[in-house]
Amino acid sequence: MAEGGTGRIAGAGGVLVFPAGMEAARRYARASRLGGRRVVGASSLSYDPARAEYDGWLSLPYVTEPGFDSALAAALRDGGFDELFTPHPVIAEHLERRLAAIAPGTRLTAALPDDALARQRILAEDLAVLRAAAWQLDPPALQPALGEAETLGLFSALEQIPGHCSDEKLWALLEVLRRCPAGDLVEIGSAWGRSAFAIGWLAERFGLGRLLCVDPWSAEQRLQHDKGGAVNAWADRMDFDATRAFFEARLSLLPRGRVNALAATSLEGAARYRAGRRIESPAFGATDYAGRIALLHIDGNHDEAFVTADLAAWGDLVVPGGWIVFDDYRWAFGDGPRLVGDRFLDERPVATAFVAGTALFARLPG
Ligand SMILES: C[S@@+](CC[C@H](N)C(=O)[O-])C[C@H]1O[C@@H](n2cnc3c(N)ncnc32)[C@H](O)[C@@H]1O
Repeated sequence: MAEGGTGRIAGAGGVLVFPAGMEAARRYARASRLGGRRVVGASSLSYDPARAEYDGWLSLPYVTEPGFDSALAAALRDGGFDELFTPHPVIAEHLERRLAAIAPGTRLTAALPDDALARQRILAEDLAVLRAAAWQLDPPALQPALGEAETLGLFSALEQIPGHCSDEKLWALLEVLRRCPAGDLVEIGSAWGRSAFAIGWLAERFGLGRLLCVDPWSAEQRLQHDKGGAVNAWADRMDFDATRAFFEARLSLLPRGRVNALAATSLEGAARYRAGRRIESPAFGATDYAGRIALLHIDGNHDEAFVTADLAAWGDLVVPGGWIVFDDYRWAFGDGPRLVGDRFLDERPVATAFVAGTALFARLPG
């Protein structure tokens, strides 16, 4: 592998990053390397401290210099790169016009404010559709609808959190929380915190109770007997420590004392919740709970036995008029939530029930 100059860099594929010293470039490079890609940096500076962070290094003229296009063409050709990343708006603008001629077939990836604005425009269009959907739920909303700007802000923040919670389900949660009685909000299965952040933020916005998240964040707990083991194969790749750290970083943005988490299974968590009202953790400090649940979001292990056990462990604490959400009631990978959800609807009086974004939402009478 060449070290500096314009020497040849062996190996097909990979991404060339230019200018490689910018923070966004260095972060993109690290993420690409984590994804197993060969990442070579390029810079117009004679000394760039980022050099040591790359698999290889190239010098390129400044984009304003006449030799830039031909030097870049040679670098991309000789290095066999299939992607060029730039975080710099001026360079991106030049490359958007010129790259097809400089190196046909090379993909340009650019992190630019324009992209963020385009994404926001598209998200706003999708949210307008969700807003216009008929959310004629019983009871009528106790809280006013969110304004367009704060909805866009919330969903933009949620877009940055990976997870298994569609926009439609998030909007349904929003509508349900507008109709939520007093009491704690409990989530079984939080992963990176997508639905948890939504519930926690909306609870603050609507002056509702405190949020408790229960997730073991452990590989031992994740086995599910889903159809064909597809979910297990995927979960094998999860880094649960990193996932928990991601969750804590996001959820700790919510006001202190209003949210907490138990790194425990649902059953262990229920025993702890019943044993005392105060829950403390290093990430969230102390939270004092009501001991009665206004919203129970069941989104842990989806095997029938687990969903049954989750409902048995927590369901009796849900207050009259409170909500129970069975995630993945409609699911390609198994029947657990549907079987337990249907049994619940058959056996228990329910005031309102609807399916949105694959989840079943049920409100107890009262
Ligand atoms: C589908 S993910 C949750 C998705 C999350 N609510 C979201 O919005 O992206 C399922 C989570 O349940 C957790 N889990 C598995 N078994 C559990 C159990 N027995 N009790 C609580 N959580 C469990 C897993 O660790 C995983 O993080």
